[in-house]
Amino acid sequence: MRHYLSELDLTADEFRGILQRGSELRKQWEAGTLTATLPHRVLGMIFEKSSTRTRVSFEAGMTQLGGHAIYLSPDNTQLGRGEPLADTAKVLSQMVDAVTIRTFSQESVERFAEVSTIPVINALTDLLHPCQLLADMQTYLDHRGDISGKKVAWIGDGNNVCNSYINTAKLLGFQLYVACPDGFEPDAEVLEEAGDAVIRTTEAAEACADADLIVTDVWASMGQEQEQKSRELAFAAYEVTPELMGLASEDALFMHCLPAHRGEEVAAEVIDGPQSVVWEEAGNRLHAQKALLEFLLNEQH
Ligand code: CP
Ligand code: NVA
Repeated sequence: MRHYLSELDLTADEFRGILQRGSELRKQWEAGTLTATLPHRVLGMIFEKSSTRTRVSFEAGMTQLGGHAIYLSPDNTQLGRGEPLADTAKVLSQMVDAVTIRTFSQESVERFAEVSTIPVINALTDLLHPCQLLADMQTYLDHRGDISGKKVAWIGDGNNVCNSYINTAKLLGFQLYVACPDGFEPDAEVLEEAGDAVIRTTEAAEACADADLIVTDVWASMGQEQEQKSRELAFAAYEVTPELMGLASEDALFMHCLPAHRGEEVAAEVIDGPQSVVWEEAGNRLHAQKALLEFLLNEQH
């Protein structure tokens, strides 16, 4: 039994295998030839933060593969009335086949997985967003082929998605430049673990020069809403503009996990422009996560 709490829970071969299968599932979906590979399987989905893409892609994905998903929020479960996550994990283990959790601390997800007897998937914590990286890497693969050896620029906040890019740079062997202001660096342990796969700078232009992929995310993540104004000041020099895109390689792609704030972390001309693949990226959440569910539920580990 395996969990997916971090990109580093997979080997590079396993990660690449899921991307290949995700691409295959996308083609099958487009051709209308999907088969029910998860019949009668049930996914429990605990969301302690808002979500559009993650919730819909997991729920639609389970249905498309012949299974079912149950959305569980603190508002309408006993979690909101103080039932411990560990007790919830033991109970859900008796009833469903896998659980996804979106919450605040990575430790909560880890504690849940420790007592769970079914696979647990991290659907975003303050530390990591590993499902997003499956979709992003599948999108790069579909458009440009293998990402190993390429230059990727992360511009803006050293947040959960940034930490996940750092893990993935180490896993898949691409060179990641992280351009963020002082005081908004990625997690120190994650950074340390990645070694020379990651170069940290405060200069967005240095990160973008000749890059093959430019990525950004909101300046204030969920839970940081009260810092929105101070962060707008701190990140003013980190908007991905057409000028920054112009420094990158000619066929560079632009990605953003969404939701986006046009005129803050990204200019409208960039996110709605020809180098942006954000809609395919969002769409691939569906296919990549179906491949992940098949990996966790159908393969012997
Ligand atoms: N990118 C992402 O995880 O989107 P949601 O918050 O809408 O799930
Ligand atoms: N960094 C963002 C990602 C949302 C998908 C957040 O945590 O709010």
